[in-house]
Order: sequence, then C-alpha cells, then structure tokens
Amino acid sequence: MTDSDSGFFITVEGLDGSGKTTQAGLLAEALSKEGHVVKVVRDPGTTVLGERLRELLLEPTSGWELEGWAEASLFLAARIQLAHEVIYPALARGEVVVSDRYLDSNLVYQGARGVPWDGIMAMHRICQVERLPDLTLILDLPVATARGRRASDLPPDRVESESSQYHERVRAGYQAVARTFPARAVLLQADQQPGDLAMECQRVARERLAARRSD
Ligand SMILES: Nc1ncnc2c1ncn2[C@@H]1O[C@H](COP(=O)(O)OP(=O)(O)OP(=O)(O)O)[C@@H](O)[C@H]1O
Ligand SMILES: [Mg+2]
Repeated sequence: MTDSDSGFFITVEGLDGSGKTTQAGLLAEALSKEGHVVKVVRDPGTTVLGERLRELLLEPTSGWELEGWAEASLFLAARIQLAHEVIYPALARGEVVVSDRYLDSNLVYQGARGVPWDGIMAMHRICQVERLPDLTLILDLPVATARGRRASDLPPDRVESESSQYHERVRAGYQAVARTFPARAVLLQADQQPGDLAMECQRVARERLAARRSD
C-alpha cells in the first residue's frame, strides 16, 4: 500500500491525558457532518489481535521490565493487523481514517527507552506498513497537566506508571517529531478548552484535506 490511495489518514498523538480520544471523536464528528466517511480507530486496538495486545502492553508488570525492542515489536504487530485489516481498505475506499495513536507513539515511547527511530522506521518498511499519515495532530502540554487529568479512581497502567522523567522525554520526542516531519506533523497547544482545541484540529484538517484535493 502506498499513499496513492484516495483516502486521507489522520493520526492524533500526545501524552496520556493530552485529549487524544476526545479530539479524535470530535474531529470525526465534524468531518462526518461535512460529508466525509470517517473511520476512527485506536492503535494498539480495534482488531481482535490489537485489543489483546493492548491489554498485554498496558498491564502493569511486576518484577520485570519489557525490553524496548520487544515493546516496539508488540506494538508493531498490532499496527500491522490494524493497517491491513482496517486502515488500508478504508483509505482505498477513499475514506478519512482518524487513528488515536500510531507510528509516532512507537518513535517517542520506545525512543525514550533508547530505541533508535531509524530502526523503528526500518521495521515498518520490512513489514510493509510504511504508509505514513497525511496529517499528524500532536497534542502538546506539560507532563504535570496531562497527569492531573488521569482518573484518580483507576490504577495507573504500565506506561502511566513510568517516571516523570520518562514522560518528559516522551514530550520532547513529540516536539522532535514535529520538527522532523513538518510536512505532516502539527504541534498544537493542548492545554486549552476542549472546544477551542477541537476548532484548531478541524481548521488544520480542513486545510490539509483541501490541499490534498488540489494536488
Ligand atoms: N482540553 C482539555 N482540557 C481539560 N480536560 C480535558 C481536555 N481534553 C480532555 N480532557 C479530559 O482529560 C481526560 C483525558 O482525556 P482523553 O481521554 O481524551 O485523553 P487521551 O489523550 O485519550 O488519554 P489516554 O492516553 O489516557 O487515552 C478526560 O477526562 C477528558 O475528559
Ligand atoms: Mg485515549
């Protein structure tokens, strides 16, 4: 699959609690109202395999740590299934796909453990999931603000349990993604009212969709 399909692929990225699921839903709703056929997916997840791997990946570990490359490989397995089973067919039909996390999560979360980006990109090429998003909305906000939004009645998952320093590296990683891939990635200030942020997401998405049509 190449990016010669007629669909439009949007990914939403950011720290836990940055508002990704909220914004993915609001954006899908707005674009649907404008006549687009929109599919919302979550990565890892959506497929049977992806949801099972998601559980495994988010389950707190006790007495052992998931090695960075092993973690990257499990996320990639979920993504391969999601891309081939759901995303690529939808893009081939000309639909808009909004994915709650995707490849950049791998780059920054495993990158924060020392796994190099070029290795992760190479794995995507080898596994034939190199179709990049047309637009990546990166929801940027301070680590403490994101943490403060986490439901206090739920125990933290494996990734949420990581140190603040780790999450600071993740945030810096996302800022580096925005600098490295300026053609597709847009860094948005997520520490604002959900409705205001939603308007910004919609504005950027509409602009990119229009630019894509006139290519
Ligand atoms: N802009 C915002 N301002 C304040 N609170 C927000 C904002 N956006 C979302 N929230 C709230 O913060 C919490 C986390 O939002 P959401 O689930 O959308 O984030 P997320 O990035 O998907 O998190 P996770 O990575 O844990 O799935 C929710 O309770 C949500 O209602
Ligand atoms: Mg979410």
